[in-house]
Amino acid sequence: MIIVDSIVKLKEIVRNNKKNGHTIGFVPTMGFLHEGHLTLAKKARKENDTVIMSIFVNPLQFGPNEDFERYPRDPEKDAALAESSGVDYLFMPSVDEMYPEEPAVALTVKKRTNVLCGIKREGHFDGVATVVMKLFHMTEPDNAYFGKKDAQQLAVIYGLVDSLNVPVTIHGVETVREEDGLAKSSRNVYLQPEERERAPALYQSLSRLKESIDSGETRIERVREQAIDYLNLHSGAEIEYLEILAYPELEPIQRATGTIIAAAAVQYKNARLIDNIIFTVK
Ligand code: PAJ
Repeated sequence: MIIVDSIVKLKEIVRNNKKNGHTIGFVPTMGFLHEGHLTLAKKARKENDTVIMSIFVNPLQFGPNEDFERYPRDPEKDAALAESSGVDYLFMPSVDEMYPEEPAVALTVKKRTNVLCGIKREGHFDGVATVVMKLFHMTEPDNAYFGKKDAQQLAVIYGLVDSLNVPVTIHGVETVREEDGLAKSSRNVYLQPEERERAPALYQSLSRLKESIDSGETRIERVREQAIDYLNLHSGAEIEYLEILAYPELEPIQRATGTIIAAAAVQYKNARLIDNIIFTVK
């Protein structure tokens, strides 16, 4: 595996791979890698000749009161994990390399952002879309891999690629979980032991909600209220939202039909956790 920190070098590598007719799979991340990220890399490995992973904690997508400065980082361990998952090129640029000056142009996401995480994290998805578009231009991937764990982000990326005719195929990958159901996340390290014990309630509330819809309940408001009650009783966290929407449009629905997402965000003392279930109503 080769570690690259310069955009010029990365573009040269991409050019050479293209010249040789190699397909490129790309996995963008912010590092502190865990099994979730590695699953994306392994899938990319299977489906492409060349695999590029980026690790860049993107300041553009963090709000003023969010955890940009204290976002967990471990570049050496990340490099070892990336290599063992079959990554060929690990792109780890500095902030100056990515943003040498204030960008003259940035993207604004027009749809799918006025719900879920978009409400509290103003400008977050604009920052995600802008950095992902930059990274796409640098890596020119045939395939790019994103986790369903960040389902709103995935919906925004589908919108980005459709709206701007970006020549890349987007792959949404199933959420990787701990044995007790908690979705793997770089931010889980902020959970206190007692919070960690109760955190699986997040996934449990969503699973129960799905079961209820699968067994015939179509009244969205009713299953939503039941899930909120469950979370209040078991999670020990403050609920930021729990919503059931059409996916990937993220539009409100009254009855459970089609492909839907049930998504929730909860706040523990030092960690904000999100999770979701996407499924098609039978
Ligand atoms: P990051 O949070 O590091 O996540 C990188 C990718 O890993 C995302 O596509 C995310 O959905 C996926 N991922 C995280 N946890 C996962 C899990 N438990 N199972 C499956 N996939 C998981 O998302 C970002 O970085 C950034 O916003 C980025 C897209 C890199 C733009 O800066």
